[in-house]
Amino acid sequence: MYGTRRWLLGASLCAFAAAAHAGPRADVIHWWTSGGESAAVKQVEQAYRAAGGTWVDTAIAGGDQARAVTINRIIGGNPPTAAQFNTSKQFLDIIEEDMLNPVDDIARRDHWDQVLPAPIVDVIKVRGHWYAVPINIHMQTWIWYSKAAFAKAGIGREPASMDELFADLDKLKAAGLIPLAHGGQAWQEILLFSMVLSNLGGRDLYLKVIRDRDQAAIHSSAFRQVLVAFKRLQGYVDPASPGRNWNDATALVIGGKAGMQIMGDWAKGEFIAAGQAPGREFGCVPGLGRDSPYLIQGDVFVFPKTDDAATLRAQKLLASVVEKPAVQLAFNRLKGSIPVRLDADDSQFDECARKGMAILRDPRRPVGVAEVYLTPDQNGALQDVLTAYWNTNMPVDRAQNSIASALRY
Ligand code: GAL
Repeated sequence: MYGTRRWLLGASLCAFAAAAHAGPRADVIHWWTSGGESAAVKQVEQAYRAAGGTWVDTAIAGGDQARAVTINRIIGGNPPTAAQFNTSKQFLDIIEEDMLNPVDDIARRDHWDQVLPAPIVDVIKVRGHWYAVPINIHMQTWIWYSKAAFAKAGIGREPASMDELFADLDKLKAAGLIPLAHGGQAWQEILLFSMVLSNLGGRDLYLKVIRDRDQAAIHSSAFRQVLVAFKRLQGYVDPASPGRNWNDATALVIGGKAGMQIMGDWAKGEFIAAGQAPGREFGCVPGLGRDSPYLIQGDVFVFPKTDDAATLRAQKLLASVVEKPAVQLAFNRLKGSIPVRLDADDSQFDECARKGMAILRDPRRPVGVAEVYLTPDQNGALQDVLTAYWNTNMPVDRAQNSIASALRY
């Protein structure tokens, strides 16, 4: 009897020890699969483990695919503990359907109302509640260039206007290089278009078209010029670009085969993972001209609704780990992004990140990317027109009219 009791006690102590060891368990869906992205997310994973949690990694290549898996699992009753979304309206529907747990306690504790930039607050705070934990801020439309390629083409300084950009692309072409490294996927085409719209059209036209969906602005000759310039960029892209992943395009710049890529600052994570440094092998241009709009988005974790106490503990632990300054620093240095807090210490960041943080502190510069203002349906409709226009002989007038229809409702 005594022996059995002792065995039972021993067994339950072991079970207790195992449970204590296992700690909160987080099944996390994200789409960070490239070299730089994986290195960055490992930092969060390690910090979660160090805080006593168990991290179950579900990395799914491609943002669209990863988000679809998350939504299907939530609807199917088998939600992950946490999932990545962009800092945008992508998760508004699941907020409306009451499928997410709010994170109001952390938001209050960390004074998010005061320290986060407005375009971020606008999408994660809905009817007074906070529904996502932001992990970074990305600027989507940087120009990344190879210093060796620029030298080979005889380009002495960074472009500061659309005309200068085209002149540099011509020089790169003449030097026998791929002038513009592009990944021919719809989301990369809308990114390129947003760069042209914000730099050539400026902040006013950008916001009128993308935020206000102003029909007169969409039909204006200034917007027509934007569409013409966007399509002109296609003449500088190599024939192998359709379907290419963004990081394979970055690899062309890293290897000096291509001159430049217009891409979010997650591309910087690839240069760093390849052992390159800003100012040494590559350069970063945040926009054409001193006042160019700075198009921000970022990544958040959302926490699907649950009443299960263990899952709730796992969610809360992840939310607080992600917001720790040391985790923000370690993650963002490898990811290429900058911390979500405008008051973060930037002394340990590289020159591109410091440029970005300085711009972000100027309230005239940051605006949201298209998905911050448009619903997923509107964004999808705009993306469809732009991709068709980029990849076919669609006349500019038709593209302009189709964009007007796509953004009418
Ligand atoms: C973005 C995301 C970035 C980066 C990029 C490419 O949507 O915000 O974190 O991962 O996709 O994968």
